[in-house]
Amino acid sequence: MKLEPFALERLQSIWENRVAWNLSESGVHPLRVEEVAGSADERAAILAQELGYGQTNGTPDLRSAIAALYPGATTDHILVTNGGSEANCVALMHLIRPGDEVVMMAPNYMQAPGLVRALGGSLLPWRLAGGPDEGRWRMDLEALAALVTSRTRAIFICNPNNPTGARMTEADLDEVCRIASRNGAWVIADEIYRGAELDGVETASAWGRYERVLVTSGLSKAYGLPGLRIGWVTGPPALIDELWGVHDYTTIAPGVLGDRLARIALAPAKRELLIARTRGIVGANYPVVKRWIDRRRGLISHVAPEAGAIVFIRYRHPINSSTLIARLREERSLLVVPGDHFEMDGYLRLGFGSDPDYLNGALDLLGEFLDALPTSASDVP
Ligand SMILES: Cc1ncc(COP(=O)(O)O)c(C=O)c1O
Repeated sequence: MKLEPFALERLQSIWENRVAWNLSESGVHPLRVEEVAGSADERAAILAQELGYGQTNGTPDLRSAIAALYPGATTDHILVTNGGSEANCVALMHLIRPGDEVVMMAPNYMQAPGLVRALGGSLLPWRLAGGPDEGRWRMDLEALAALVTSRTRAIFICNPNNPTGARMTEADLDEVCRIASRNGAWVIADEIYRGAELDGVETASAWGRYERVLVTSGLSKAYGLPGLRIGWVTGPPALIDELWGVHDYTTIAPGVLGDRLARIALAPAKRELLIARTRGIVGANYPVVKRWIDRRRGLISHVAPEAGAIVFIRYRHPINSSTLIARLREERSLLVVPGDHFEMDGYLRLGFGSDPDYLNGALDLLGEFLDALPTSASDVP
């Protein structure tokens, strides 16, 4: 199995802890252990936790807390993984055979393309329509219908979407499922940003719309807990059982401390607090970014994100996005993600989930940098 580089994660792995300013992160400022385990009993439970392997598919209590988020699901419908990334990984490793096609909503978190190709499959992008000129991103369902055939093993969606922050409606999801069902394709819905909505209205889930739906998700984005490395797959029990067998190869088990803290985080009252915290951060910080963008009208444009602490901005400067972000990193020690990493040059993805002072400092630097860039090809020295 030959894996191509996963450009977005490579960039972050190498640079995110070395730069002075990091706007490449797509989640909100993370919580500390003491904020999750708030009570004396919870802290005692953490300290008393024996560091064994634990239950390799997630403790029954954790799976039950996750199942409660998906109507009709039981503990048998849940596999706990190390982050949403392992959830996507085991799903694709199990489903994709050489010659299979995967139709992927694009742009997207680009884990699926590399994995699908390494597994001998091919990847067909299903591109979002619209964009900054239209003021919205749209799901072109006719285009999806034209891409899905008997060769399609899965339709891979990311809802809410990374990097645009666009959200699918119930009708969109029903139609995606209807198109998949015509050819018996699976729908894999990466819903890791669900819960991080700016308007507080929870994104519809693909769960329960069709018997071949797998939802992948986790605590890294909407819950502000990426360091726990807790994700999950929700799906039909027989398939979940097969995926558990793949997880025996990938990581065996989630860490027991992560599992324990995840149980605390997903207790209903705590979960509500964590989601409210995330919505508070994105709701307070997005207007800061929007004002910053609006001051550069004509040179930078965007579609307002509906969920997630990310904004996908289009710039007019005649410079390739990878070149731009490399210069930005070298000259200002500031990291952002280039549109190239989503196969959309001319865009940048900025994360706005950090502390407001830090965000303002980073935006000032980025603004100075962009304002000094030539704005037409004839200005380039
Ligand atoms: C859409 C999407 N899925 C999965 C992941 C990976 O999540 P985790 O850190 O939980 O492995 C990310 C991380 O950025 C993401 O954006």
